[in-house]
Formats: sequence, C-alpha cells, structure tokens
Amino acid sequence: VGHIDDVQELRKSIPAAIPERFIRDMAERPTLTMETLLSSTDIPVIDFSQLLKGKTDELQRELSKLAASCEEWGFFQVINHGIDLGLLESIEKAAMDFFMLPLEEKQKYAMAPGTIQGYGQAFVFSEDQKLDWCNMFALGLEPHFIRNPKLWPTKPAEFSDALEVYSREIRELCQNMLRYIAMSLGLNEDAFENMFGEAVQAVRMNYYPPCSRPDLVLGLSPHSDGSALTVLQQGRDGSVGLQILRHNTWVPVRPIPNAFVINIGDTIEVLTNGKYKSVEHRAVTHKEKDRLSIVTFYAPSYEIELGPMPEFLDENNPCKYRRYNHGEYSRHYVTSKLEGKKTLDFAK
Ligand code: SIN
Ligand code: FE2
Repeated sequence: VGHIDDVQELRKSIPAAIPERFIRDMAERPTLTMETLLSSTDIPVIDFSQLLKGKTDELQRELSKLAASCEEWGFFQVINHGIDLGLLESIEKAAMDFFMLPLEEKQKYAMAPGTIQGYGQAFVFSEDQKLDWCNMFALGLEPHFIRNPKLWPTKPAEFSDALEVYSREIRELCQNMLRYIAMSLGLNEDAFENMFGEAVQAVRMNYYPPCSRPDLVLGLSPHSDGSALTVLQQGRDGSVGLQILRHNTWVPVRPIPNAFVINIGDTIEVLTNGKYKSVEHRAVTHKEKDRLSIVTFYAPSYEIELGPMPEFLDENNPCKYRRYNHGEYSRHYVTSKLEGKKTLDFAK
C-alpha cells in the first residue's frame, strides 16, 4: 500500500480528493434513496439470554426466531450476549489507537503480497480494480499455527492482551451460536462442532475514515463471507455503515448499542443446501463521521471436506453444491476480489 492508496493518509494530505481508483462505476454507487433511509424494517434481534434458558418455551420461541432470521435474512443482532462491556470497549480502543498510529508504525505490520494478515488493503489483485475506502488490519487467531507473531503490534501496549481475551470470549459465543443454529435446524446440537474439527478463527478490524463524497465510493465492496459464522462489533458510537442486500435493495443495519451483528457464512449455506443463507453485504462511508468495525470469522478446519448434508436433500431440494475441501475454498476466497456471492461458484 503506497501513501496514495492509504485512505487515512489521503484524507490528511488532500481532504477532498477522491482518486479515480476509489470512484465506483454508476451501478455500484451507494445511492441512498429516501426509501432506504426511511426503511422501517430492521434485521431480526436474538436475545441470547433466552437461548441459555434450556429446555423451555422461551428457548423454543427464540430458536424459531433464529431459524426465521437465518432463512430469511442471513443476519441478526444478538443482545444480552453476556460478554463484558468493558471488554468491548477495550478492544475498540485498542483497534482505534492502532489505526491512529503514524503510517510508518503501522507499516511495520504491512500485509505482504499474497498474504492475508497484517495492515493494508486486502483482496486487491489488479491495477484496474476499484479500491475500498477503508484501512484493514487482519490477524489469524486459532489454531495457533495460523498466527504470525511478528504481525501482533507492540503499540498500543494493550492491543495483544485485549485481543487475546476478546477472541476467547467471541470463540465461545460462536460455539454456542453454532449449537443453537444446529438445534434450530433440527440437528444434533453438536452437529457442526463435530464436523468442523479444530475450528479456524481470524479477526479483521476495518477503519473507515470520513469521505467527502460518500455517494461515489464504497467502504467495503459487496461480498458474502467465506466463514461458517461471522461476528461483527460496530463502533459503539452507533455509527451506521453496514448494508445487506435484501430483495435486491440495500438495507442499512441500524446498530443496537453493545449488540453483535452475526451473519451466516458460505459454509453454513453449503451445509444446509441453501436453507440458511450467506447474504451479500457491503459498507458505505459517511461525510463527517469515521467508523470502526471489528469482525471475527469462525470457520471449519482447513482439512475438512464439506458439502450439503443429507438432511437437507430430497426430491424438492436437489443438491445445489458439490463436495469440496474447505482449505481449498478458503484459498480460493482470499485470492479472489470481493464480488458479491461469486466466490460460492467454486462450490457449484
Ligand atoms: C465486513 O463485512 O467484513 C464488515 C462490514 C462492516 O464494516 O460493517
Ligand atoms: Fe463480510
């Protein structure tokens, strides 16, 4: 990433400039119609404390809500998740302090060409590809062999400890949610856990500086996630930026303070033969406000072979995806540009 492609540096040197490489073709521009702005449909809300109640009516009711969310939205917000608010604050502060460091400091952790960890712009493979109005910092977390300790920042001093604690808590949330998702599908509660082996977990922090022309750029290109499940923490100042594609319209996700946004990734879509959907989403920018998001990806071990489970196949539901190795899928995903649900073509 040269100075000119680093959006924070660009803002500092020429605040109003939007270089050609960031300007989207007409069809991709985020026209915020009155309809989207006034849209009163919010993504579903799942109350985690109701799920924890065990074999009760409350659990059943919440599981039905979860099933409907995964089938019809692919996205939901989770409230009462039990994760300490102080922890959410500390990871957000660590991430924000990191992004505010001078470029020279951040470039010590630069994403090397052909890799996916470190600081920089991911998913850029050609000179003519449009760039996202975003700086990213990504780290592999689990299993430990995917970690690159040289990329763990020493500044801010609290970063590594905060991330360590945060990732343990989020891992537990992912494991719990996968259990409830399995139950909501009528599967054995351990169905996914048993299949996934030593699950892979990674984090990506996205920092979107303000943009003088949010109508011309995208914070993050449209894509579906290559994970099984994704957990998103949004800037706790309530900043809006995430949009999901629903019935061909981009619907903004209104953040609930201290809630997580969780979405179904490609793995669960394939395993359920499309019953639960990995929904396309993107991020837009704001004229005055910056935005931070902290995204955790939870996925099966790379060795695992995946394909639609027999439970989701019958004469009305013919098999939509082939069997494939998840490691190969992951490699395909990270070596393709973000482009809607195109990466799933790999599984067809
Ligand atoms: C993502 O899809 O990785 C994050 C989008 C966001 O910043 O909300
Ligand atoms: Fe995503």
